Amino acid sequence: MMSSRFAAAARRSLSTLSPPVPKFDTVACVGLGLMGHGIAQVSAQANFKVVAFEQEQRFLDAGRSRIEGSLGKMLKREKISQEQYDGIMNGITYTTDFADLASSDLVVEAVIENMDLKKQLWGELNNVCKPDAIFASNTSSLSITEMADVSGRPDRFVGVHFFNPVQLMKLTEVIRTVHTHPEVFDACHSWVGDIKKVAVSCNDTPGFIVNRLLVPSLTQACLMLDRKDATIKDIDLSMQLGAGHPMGPLHLADYIGLDTIHSIIAGWVEKYPDEPAFEMPKCLKERFDNGDLGRKTGKGFYHWGAGDVRGEPTE
Ligand SMILES: NC(=O)c1ccc[n+]([C@@H]2O[C@H](COP(=O)([O-])OP(=O)(O)OC[C@H]3O[C@@H](n4cnc5c(N)ncnc54)[C@H](O)[C@@H]3O)[C@@H](O)[C@H]2O)c1
Repeated sequence: MMSSRFAAAARRSLSTLSPPVPKFDTVACVGLGLMGHGIAQVSAQANFKVVAFEQEQRFLDAGRSRIEGSLGKMLKREKISQEQYDGIMNGITYTTDFADLASSDLVVEAVIENMDLKKQLWGELNNVCKPDAIFASNTSSLSITEMADVSGRPDRFVGVHFFNPVQLMKLTEVIRTVHTHPEVFDACHSWVGDIKKVAVSCNDTPGFIVNRLLVPSLTQACLMLDRKDATIKDIDLSMQLGAGHPMGPLHLADYIGLDTIHSIIAGWVEKYPDEPAFEMPKCLKERFDNGDLGRKTGKGFYHWGAGDVRGEPTE
């Protein structure tokens, strides 16, 4: 159910969308990193024409290699035929030229998590893209409304929050702001189904559904450690054996990367100082400041050797 602010906004804008939502034939993916290459790939697999954009040729080549690698594995495991492989690859146009995005019906942005960069990009995209094109950001933690406000087309702007790895994770959160026209929201929600993901709807609120619940639960585990209520090992064991989680919260934090969690919670603490669920734990900040970012740096809440699936607690 929508909050009254969102419901009232939806009613207000019901009959005013002009020009109408285009039929989604061509999907542009801006940013071909970890997330963007996956979004481009699953869109092409669902027979959408894809325009894949990076600002530099070397990043474009890297994105293309990732897609080739992922499809190559599917081919080897006989999940797709050579004909399908060729069809998917031929369905993607790779470009570093902004002008090639002009005729896209849906533009999905997956560049680095930086509001200033994203805002600048949306302004430029608004100048290049056709007036009826729909804009969507894959941000994990930034405000969709703030981006929509500078996009020149706030009624045509949504969030589509995919999960990593995009090729495997089924969920996509579709996010509306108070300006999003209901027809735009519905079209994006259906598109998510078309690319074989399960869509859930959420208003533009910090962390949407999954991260709003997940990140505070991880920082609560860190706060327990700050208070010395329990050890790393016992906190994690408790949530595994007592709550049936596949891994404990501190173990999961090391897998996600303590820089990612630090960046999300720091942003929320600054923007929502009165929200008690958002608090920066001392043990998280110290590890972040020391560059101990979890599995990827070999140390976080655990010591990690190369290829370790399970580490040794640091305290
Ligand atoms: N990594 C995750 O698990 C995850 C999950 C969901 C959402 N997200 C969100 O997806 C977005 C991308 O994250 P990522 O993990 O794929 O990052 P990434 O660093 O792997 O990729 C970002 C890409 O953006 C490109 N880029 C930077 N500036 C650009 C510009 N001006 N124009 C075009 N491309 C540009 C970079 O070259 C890079 O390839 C972020 O907003 C992030 O919050 C990430």
